[in-house]
Amino acid sequence: MSPLGRLYGLGIGPGDPELLTLKAHRILTTVPVIAYPTLENGKVLARAIVADFIRPDQIEIPMPLPFSVERSSQPYYDIAADKIAEQLSLGRDVAVLCVGDPMLYGSFMYIFNRLAGRFAIEVVPGISSVMASAAMLGVPITYRNDVFSIMPGTLEADILRDRLSKVDAAAIIKLGRHFAKVRDILLELGLLNRALYIERATLPNQKIIPITEVDPEAVTYWSLILVPSTTQPQ
Ligand SMILES: C[S@@+](CC[C@H](N)C(=O)[O-])C[C@H]1O[C@@H](n2cnc3c(N)ncnc32)[C@H](O)[C@@H]1O
Repeated sequence: MSPLGRLYGLGIGPGDPELLTLKAHRILTTVPVIAYPTLENGKVLARAIVADFIRPDQIEIPMPLPFSVERSSQPYYDIAADKIAEQLSLGRDVAVLCVGDPMLYGSFMYIFNRLAGRFAIEVVPGISSVMASAAMLGVPITYRNDVFSIMPGTLEADILRDRLSKVDAAAIIKLGRHFAKVRDILLELGLLNRALYIERATLPNQKIIPITEVDPEAVTYWSLILVPSTTQPQ
């Protein structure tokens, strides 16, 4: 019987392939199997980021996921985990591609939770979209004792308002159709003048738009708002 394969959670960064770590590149180009999330609406960012490094002889496992958070993603992850486990059981190493960092709101975590204990797992950290966005926007996020909060725009308005009312600095991810709700809360809390909007950070089609000029109907899932600290640097 062949030994079991190793599962890699591969952080591939926010979009620019040059932001892949050397380790992620080495593993990506040597594993026999790669898996990556695909959204039901056809968006496949993870594979696109590393498309130039994928060889035709590598086995690919697309992992379809529901686009809406209202739909349970559990059965989708069960199916994906089974397909990955099948390859690992055949002794093949599998790298699951993850935009940004795998352990920060990453789809890999759900595969990790399903397969931990059954297979050897190695996680390769990646540059998160949050960190990349601060770099692209050219703003320091936090100084000294500032507390930085990352939260999804998918939260209910009351919870989001409560959380945002306490932050020194914040990143709000998963905007899409939640943008208008987030923008209105930022306005209510007097944070809108500090808030910065960026989409597709580090990709060739990156856009930085003044937040008051963003069309809520056109906001992509691949966008976030950064509210940097107002602490005065010394
Ligand atoms: C499921 S979370 C995954 C976060 C990812 N693991 C990370 O570390 O960046 C997806 C959210 O990350 C943000 N995101 C990912 N890539 C982005 C990019 N290139 N530019 C702006 N936001 C991005 C968006 O807010 C998106 O809705």
